[in-house]
Amino acid sequence: MTRFKIAILVGSNRRESLNRKLAQALARLGEDKFAFNFVQIDDLPLYNQDLEAELPSSVARLKAEISSADGLLFVTPEHNRSIPTVLKNAIDWGARPYGKNSWAGKPAAITGTSPGAIGTAVAQQHLRQILGVLGVLVMGGEAYIAFKPGLIDDSGAISDAGTRAFLKGFVDQFSALVSRLSVGSSELPREAAA
Ligand code: FNR
Repeated sequence: MTRFKIAILVGSNRRESLNRKLAQALARLGEDKFAFNFVQIDDLPLYNQDLEAELPSSVARLKAEISSADGLLFVTPEHNRSIPTVLKNAIDWGARPYGKNSWAGKPAAITGTSPGAIGTAVAQQHLRQILGVLGVLVMGGEAYIAFKPGLIDDSGAISDAGTRAFLKGFVDQFSALVSRLSVGSSELPREAAA
């Protein structure tokens, strides 16, 4: 069975990021279906159109990793009821230069966690809007994870059975979406793609 290549974008540059831990737990839940690549975004320069003439190497790397992915998984905190600057910066770079939008046409899933009661719901809505403008095909449904101490155990697994089952369903739904949108791509056997 083909394992689709998924680029994971964590919207936090914090060392002990809860969202990075959640992303790692999701990667474990989906390891039978996907090959995951954690995309580095904390070394990108602050977006500046003046830098587009000669793309910084970190930006070129970001764009290459997005382009080669079969799908995108965003796992993001909420900052002041929107997405964190570090993630918006990466999205802006990936969309540039004009006419070279690396995000367009990619299937994507969005989730995130916060100690707050509404578990990044507002940030996810903003992210959905931004990605829609860029032509990303965002999976329907909602996955707002309110972070409680111990939600992710010392081994990096989701400790709560209900949350684990919910997130496994989320990963399976994303796998079905990526498979469906990959029909006709090079993932198919040659005779079927002809
Ligand atoms: C926050 N936090 C936060 N939480 C939330 O649920 N809604 C919000 O609007 C905000 N706003 C916000 C702004 C800023 C500048 C910071 C630093 C924090 C709290 C946030 O959820 C918490 O710091 C998480 O731990 C961030 O996720 P990571 O970095 O641990 O993945």
